[in-house]
Amino acid sequence: MNANILVLPGDGIGPEVTAAAVSVLRAIAKRYGHDFHFEEKLIGGAAIDATGEPLPQATLDAARRADAVLLGAVGGPKWSDPKAKVRPEQGLLAIRKALGLYANLRPVTPHPATLGASPIKPHLLNGVDLMVVRELTGGIYFGDKTRDADTASDLCRYSAAEIERVVRRACTLARARRGKVTSVDKANVLETSRLWRETTERVVREEFPDIELEHQLVDSMAMHLLAKPREYDVIVTENMFGDILTDEASMLAGSLGLLPSASLGDDRVGIYEPIHGSAPDIAGKGIANPFATILSAAMLLRHSLGLEREATCIEQAVGKALDAGVLTADLAPAGRGVRTADATRAVLEQLEADCYVAE
Ligand code: NAD
Ligand code: IPM
Ligand code: MN
Repeated sequence: MNANILVLPGDGIGPEVTAAAVSVLRAIAKRYGHDFHFEEKLIGGAAIDATGEPLPQATLDAARRADAVLLGAVGGPKWSDPKAKVRPEQGLLAIRKALGLYANLRPVTPHPATLGASPIKPHLLNGVDLMVVRELTGGIYFGDKTRDADTASDLCRYSAAEIERVVRRACTLARARRGKVTSVDKANVLETSRLWRETTERVVREEFPDIELEHQLVDSMAMHLLAKPREYDVIVTENMFGDILTDEASMLAGSLGLLPSASLGDDRVGIYEPIHGSAPDIAGKGIANPFATILSAAMLLRHSLGLEREATCIEQAVGKALDAGVLTADLAPAGRGVRTADATRAVLEQLEADCYVAE
């Protein structure tokens, strides 16, 4: 297959982890006889420095032309002044919105080899396999913002149509899994959450009567997620709750550096990005965990290119590298972590050993 993949390295560890994932995609292309063309563009702080804008028009145009987008991370102390007029994060929000990527899939599947890295007791983690579907283009992130000297406001707004489409996506995913959807809201306080709950009830009743739906308030959900993570299958929630709950859920897997994501809309093009940020504290040191981005590349093959076998091959290679004890500093005992390049090489070696070779 021919595919154009746009790479947006961004800031901090972004370039380090996207380079790792691109090397894995190149290896996959070679083994399976695909022709992947990679183009690289600016986003975030790097784009602000070069052009003054966090999402240059050339980047958005390239994304619209591409079959899929692989993104590292944006942001960092250099651009974090509260008084700054432009911010790296605006670029990420703008590209998600412009491409209509309303559903952010964040799978959480703790691997046996990293149970020791989780602060949660191992017996609670066995068999955890959950998928958070985070609404990505609405809510408080995108409502009107105001600011004067001593007052500020961020409006949280949702329409029923925005809720319906993401709930449908969650239910469709649940049908291919264990058939259970947990919808997370704050309906005891927020009007948007009451609309969320009503709309979710209706969509499930009318279109997905086979789905087992439960509602959970976000505060107690934050607790249950750690106390009984095995209970959950698909979790669907609004933008900000999903952002927060998934960083929390990364501790089930042992590190933020392990969780991938796919940001999807109704077209084939999606953005594939680790859930973590630019990690300024470790940027430039060559020690970032590349697995979240490599696993995001696997999601890219699955969701944008329909290459299920190749996606699974990457996921198995990462799993085997972890089994073999290939742990970066975020996962290893103090002082014993391997470098980004070593972790990437271990995945490439597993691909070499196990994956199908095109005739
Ligand atoms: P962060 O996710 O960048 O880092 C949190 C902690 O996790 C840090 O200690 C970091 O070293 C560690 N970590 C993250 N990814 C890692 C990896 N792959 N390997 C090893 N350790 C890893 O969150 P933060 O520090 O709150 O934010 C830093 C910047 O990143 C901010 O500017 C924020 O806006 C931005 N950010 C961007 C994205 C994105 O581009 N999608 C996501 C989150 C945060
Ligand atoms: C994420 C990040 C972004 C978000 C920021 C950087 C805009 O935290 O992708 O999880 O909040 O969506
Ligand atoms: Mn986040």
